[in-house]
Amino acid sequence: MTADNEQVTSTDASAHAASQLRRGASSTSRVEPGTGPVTGVNGRGSSVPAVLVEGVVKRFGATVALDGAGLEVPAGMVFGLLGPNGAGKTTLVRILATLLAPDAGRAEVLGHDVVREPAAVRELIGLTGQFAAVDELLTGRENLEMFGRLFKLSREDARRRAGELLERFDLAQAADRPARTYSGGMRRRLDIASSLLTRPRVLFLDEPATGLDPRGRNEIWAIVRELRRGGTTLLLTTQYLEEADQLADRIAVIDRGR
Ligand SMILES: Nc1ncnc2c1ncn2[C@@H]1O[C@H](COP(=O)(O)OP(=O)(O)OP(=O)(O)O)[C@@H](O)[C@H]1O
Ligand SMILES: [Mg+2]
Repeated sequence: MTADNEQVTSTDASAHAASQLRRGASSTSRVEPGTGPVTGVNGRGSSVPAVLVEGVVKRFGATVALDGAGLEVPAGMVFGLLGPNGAGKTTLVRILATLLAPDAGRAEVLGHDVVREPAAVRELIGLTGQFAAVDELLTGRENLEMFGRLFKLSREDARRRAGELLERFDLAQAADRPARTYSGGMRRRLDIASSLLTRPRVLFLDEPATGLDPRGRNEIWAIVRELRRGGTTLLLTTQYLEEADQLADRIAVIDRGR
């Protein structure tokens, strides 16, 4: 796939998204498969989508967080899930990450059902949640080594992988300072690094750049692009059309859980 194609795809998708947004929060707005490239772009010829969601419903008491949401993410792309506050983005990401069970519908990661095969799904995914999961008292290095151990890496592998990720995310200088001394951008980079310890094939990024200044945001965008070049499938949520437009090969709009 050429850079030109990507641009065209992204522009088409965002024009579609923009027209949906302009229509506002009407009941006709819903998550739709986009118009981007077809499956198989991972170069392995696989036709199994990285993420498949069909008719997913999730209620919290009287609140319907997801109301029949559906989407399909081909392997190897950046998929942007665009929606306002309360649209259901985090709920969908948590279901895909096996942290929350859907009330109805189907969700799969690389062909594995999130309800019936949660362990298989967890082997394949990484998650950077909306709010940083960093331990403030530990240093950046200690945070990564701790997560490495939680992910069952040997002590030595955890140490080596932490070192690699600190370098890669420009945190080597600050590696031995407590995370509470990190800027918001550094914290977010550390958080993303911790979700990459296990080299996931599918990465969920829930509003990775929200709350960052333009420089911090650009750093996160560069990470997303680099991960995509490395073959990771990314599903990122955002409230910003510009962000989806800049990063995503394909965009779906979510509003009121659809
Ligand atoms: N644990 C919960 N208990 C009760 N209601 C919840 C819970 N989690 C989410 N909700 C509700 O479900 C709806 C969707 O929330 P969700 O967090 O998925 O939205 P979002 O698109 O991620 O929003 P934001 O952009 O603000 O992060 C909201 O109305 C929210 O209040
Ligand atoms: Mg959210």
